[in-house]
Amino acid sequence: MSKEKKKYATVHYNNYLGLDQLLSAQKPKSAEVDQTPAHDEMLFIIVHQAYELWFKQVIHELTSVLDLFREKNIHPRSIGTAVSRLERVVEILNLLIQQIKIMETMTPLDFLDFRNYLFPASGFQSYQFRMVENLLGLEDDHRITYNGESYDAVFDNRKREKLKDAVDATSLFEAVENWLERTPFLSFGDFDFLDAYRHAVDRMSEKEQKAILESNYLTDKEKDMRLKMLNGTSTYFYHVLNREEHQKRQAEGNIRLNYEATIAALFIHLYRDEPILHLPFRLLVTLTEIDEMLTTWRYRHAQMVMRMIGNKIGTGGSSGHAYLHKTAEKHHIFKDLHAIATLLIPRSELPDLPPHLKQQLDFNFKHP
Ligand code: HEM
Repeated sequence: MSKEKKKYATVHYNNYLGLDQLLSAQKPKSAEVDQTPAHDEMLFIIVHQAYELWFKQVIHELTSVLDLFREKNIHPRSIGTAVSRLERVVEILNLLIQQIKIMETMTPLDFLDFRNYLFPASGFQSYQFRMVENLLGLEDDHRITYNGESYDAVFDNRKREKLKDAVDATSLFEAVENWLERTPFLSFGDFDFLDAYRHAVDRMSEKEQKAILESNYLTDKEKDMRLKMLNGTSTYFYHVLNREEHQKRQAEGNIRLNYEATIAALFIHLYRDEPILHLPFRLLVTLTEIDEMLTTWRYRHAQMVMRMIGNKIGTGGSSGHAYLHKTAEKHHIFKDLHAIATLLIPRSELPDLPPHLKQQLDFNFKHP
């Protein structure tokens, strides 16, 4: 068949979607073993398969975004593409959270009708889920493990290699960190963002301190307490804005995002109304949303597990709910981007940008 003919050859819905393979891939174990198959096992299989299909799409999106971001000089046009693909990931994760409700239409007793046939299979063995975590940038030594084994011990060599490759390659976290580090404008002519911001923070704390001291409705004890709190916030600002302190906290494992990238993320957040910074701002917000959605999924999944099996151990051999709850607390990837909110100051307190910088951050189209 010529190439042209092949291109327009009739495609049937069934073949295009590979439906024969897809729809014959639901093989309830209970039907193999029992005379009366457990009714809900079909739901259990289909929900898991639907998840795996969506994981595939998420990997497709993340890989393409990483390809854009691994370029030495990211093309400005790529940021819009990256944002829209990552926004798609957010929507998919949202759907994956909703799907838990469908699973929960199965009662714990219905689950017991076939749970015994599942041992030792478990979502813990989902290769694609691990790939999503690795592409995003979950670090191996930050993973919670159980039975003293690495998370990848459940995979064959080929899959383990691929997971390792993803860990060794630049993750989305690292790619975004590198991109943030290169943010221009932080020092522009005689404008030094950090200097201007530090002054603004000092001015703001002085104002707040004065308001507390001069307040007519606070008691002396309350004033004391508020001043202490204000002092705590100032110390926090100091720690983040000081390179050595930041690096110390990074070495202790309290923060991951490096100093330059943190300051750049702060700049983008504060001046996001400037047209050129708006898309970078959307990118940062979308990454925090992905982190939030994944964490929400982890909590919801752990909750569902409690409802289905209580405190029993999992089919994969973990402590079940307790293990999953810990992963929800610890397996964050973009936590430092959330923490930027602590450093935000009201628009009214923002240092004015010099006109020549403001002009650079604007869309410079002029009507002829
Ligand atoms: C009745 C429903 C479910 C139960 C009782 C359940 C139970 C569990 C348990 C106990 C674990 C911990 C590992 C183990 O010891 O097995 C686990 C892990 C996991 N499950 Fe489920 N699960 C259910 C549904 C799902 C669904 C629908 C998905 C979707 C793909 C899923 C994905 C996962 C993943 C990805 C992990 C690994 C999490 C991690 O290690 O961070 N599970 N599940």
